[in-house]
Amino acid sequence: MNGRLEGRVAVVTGGAGGIGAGTARRFVEEGARVVLADVDVDRGKVLAGELGSAARFAETDVTDEVAVAAAVDLAVAEFGRLDVMFNNAGILGAVGPIADTTVDAWDRSVAVLLRSVFLGMKHAARVMVPQRSGVILSTSSIAGVTGGLGPHGYTACKHAVVGLTRSVAVELAQHGIRVSAIAPGMTVTAMTAFTCTGDPDALDSTTEAIRSRSALGIAGEPLDIANAALYLASDEARYVSGHLLVVDAAQTANGGSRHFASMDAGLVDAGNRPA
Ligand code: NAI
Repeated sequence: MNGRLEGRVAVVTGGAGGIGAGTARRFVEEGARVVLADVDVDRGKVLAGELGSAARFAETDVTDEVAVAAAVDLAVAEFGRLDVMFNNAGILGAVGPIADTTVDAWDRSVAVLLRSVFLGMKHAARVMVPQRSGVILSTSSIAGVTGGLGPHGYTACKHAVVGLTRSVAVELAQHGIRVSAIAPGMTVTAMTAFTCTGDPDALDSTTEAIRSRSALGIAGEPLDIANAALYLASDEARYVSGHLLVVDAAQTANGGSRHFASMDAGLVDAGNRPA
């Protein structure tokens, strides 16, 4: 432990599993105390028990303002302050063709993937503005950067998380609060296991599926995203706000072709002829 978050208090939504659980573990290793806010009571309580006195579990549906406010208030009541709000909970949401997408499935996607982030920012700001410090992080996605990497509603909401992050970063900077987002690439969790195999528990075959498609030849793990969140949450990022940190092994940097890199080295100059 290096104490990069020593004395800090964090709320992690979706903290019972996947990226949220990995981040909560990493934050605690670095000296933070965390509230795990999640609908998954069983997994949330198990992880809180594992993390001991540094963690509390708050049963939280992130679409519910009263519940999100209560998770923030629990952090303040139990640990005295709120330094980091990580709006991370998510679902795949509505899938299928746009013409067949129901309004109910759409609205549910927007509630879990976007209203939740608004609520987390709102209630974190309530505590952080008078405190005059804090970091608000949200999990976007590579689907928040480009099309075709997620379902329609998911893609729309993950783009919106980036817009909201930039807008709120501008407002809250005057209060000493930094606001940024993370765009994970394919990361081995229940969500991707379901996407890749249809079975949310098939983590081994998911690891292999992601690894085989990765430019770096490795599969992203929750720890890779946790380390990005740790950096943004720590004082090392004191000059970083309104930022989207893409953590995707060049997945979105690759427009789909390695053609130019595989050409013989040279210069194509005027007239499009090798010089
Ligand atoms: P996961 O399914 O392993 O974890 C999601 C957590 O959110 C679970 O613990 C779940 O119980 C909780 N959750 C779901 N709905 C909730 C609600 N209404 N209220 C409170 N908690 C709720 O998935 P993963 O992969 O860890 O996802 C975390 C975030 O990362 C999500 O926002 C997801 O969209 C995002 N993401 C994930 C990527 C991946 O490849 N796994 C890639 C890009 C973004």
